[in-house]
Amino acid sequence: MLATQHDSAIGRSLIERLTNARQHTDDLFALVKPDSLYARPIAERHRIVFYIGHLEAFDWNLFHQRVFELKAFHPEFDRLFAFGIDPVGGGLPSDQPSDWPSIAAVRDYVSKIRAILDDKLTQALLDSDLSARDRFPLSTLLNVAIEHRLMHAETLGYMLHQLPLDRKKPHAEVLSLITPTVVHRSIEIPAGVVNLGLPRGSDLFGWDNEYEAHTVDVPAFAIDEYKVTNRQYLEFITAGGYETRTFWGDGDSEDSNDDDWNWKSRQGISHPAFWKHEGDQWLFRTMFEDVPLPLDWPVYVSQAEAKAYARWTGKSLPTEAEWQRAAYATAQATERSDSWRSEARGAAEPAEQLGNFDFARWSPVPVNALSQTHSPFGVRGMLGNGWEWTSTQFAPFPGFEPFPFYRGYSADFFDGKHFVMKGGSARTAACMLRPSFRNWFQAHYQFIYTGFRCVSR
Ligand SMILES: [Fe+2]
Repeated sequence: MLATQHDSAIGRSLIERLTNARQHTDDLFALVKPDSLYARPIAERHRIVFYIGHLEAFDWNLFHQRVFELKAFHPEFDRLFAFGIDPVGGGLPSDQPSDWPSIAAVRDYVSKIRAILDDKLTQALLDSDLSARDRFPLSTLLNVAIEHRLMHAETLGYMLHQLPLDRKKPHAEVLSLITPTVVHRSIEIPAGVVNLGLPRGSDLFGWDNEYEAHTVDVPAFAIDEYKVTNRQYLEFITAGGYETRTFWGDGDSEDSNDDDWNWKSRQGISHPAFWKHEGDQWLFRTMFEDVPLPLDWPVYVSQAEAKAYARWTGKSLPTEAEWQRAAYATAQATERSDSWRSEARGAAEPAEQLGNFDFARWSPVPVNALSQTHSPFGVRGMLGNGWEWTSTQFAPFPGFEPFPFYRGYSADFFDGKHFVMKGGSARTAACMLRPSFRNWFQAHYQFIYTGFRCVSR
């Protein structure tokens, strides 16, 4: 059946987005000096070489049999590169560089897959249609491939951030440091309702955990106008925050060995992972250089560290519903009629003035650098410039159903140990800034571009 013009246009735009996403990840691997491609910058994660193979293995495993009925040409690599790792509470990988295939063999696997899939996808979109596979249209599977890769473009950024500077090719970045003094205050959000999730049948692509749409009542609360800055967090450190037991746990962990205090003590953690103490000076480790700590940038910390800071101030982290209400609701209605995207279309200023996201920069900007953008309630900087922790355990919305072609994407993390993050970072693709997008990480992981703001109730 011939594709309709509408389907063809959607198909072409999806293939273009896949090509662009590949360029992002190719550029990331190109930052690494060739003799460091077998390095493991973060102890809990795979070696870099795994990710070169993984991005293509994922696409291949998604499409080759289910959509195109193709036979595997390298089943060993299809399995070897199938899954990443996210160990909770220890259990570090112990493989050696010699356990992995050569870069030449991995790159050959990558280019073969790209050639086969591009050929098949172009053909399918030209002379077939976007009709359902596994009850899902081809466009949904393509969105899965694109967003999976773009998520890795962000998490690979976290990983390469931890790679020593001399193992990366140098890159000049102009840092944004100077803005008016940040004046912190709380914004009152009245009691009301908020919409969470996407309705099934929505035209927008969403992952399995974004369904179903539902409404939640949120009691009144007050939320910080800006994200917590390095300056504020430094005050917590100076006040002995890392040495004060009461800030680091409320008995909310079933396993006392895994509570925040024991984790911090066992790991010898005394400051954010992106900070470095040299002489009597604090430095911030950007992707490409160490600089004097930019005091008005948002602090990036684990959820355990964010909670400890919040307890020190007598406040809490917002719930997912509170964050969503502060970001999207209005005093009159449950949700403003559109997201930042409509502002971007209607605004005189370019979209990058609306937030620090979509790979425009590597580093954060001061929390008030883009303060012309704010939520209807006046809360600033909620999209980009760093994800924000919530106190909400990552769990299914009512009506959740795993994608049959990727059953573990969300369901493997409904374990009470992962928490919802909202917003986005400088390295989050614009497509994932939709209001329903939910990110999550374990509470004891420091290497992510995630900060927080506090609430009082
Ligand atoms: Fe993956």
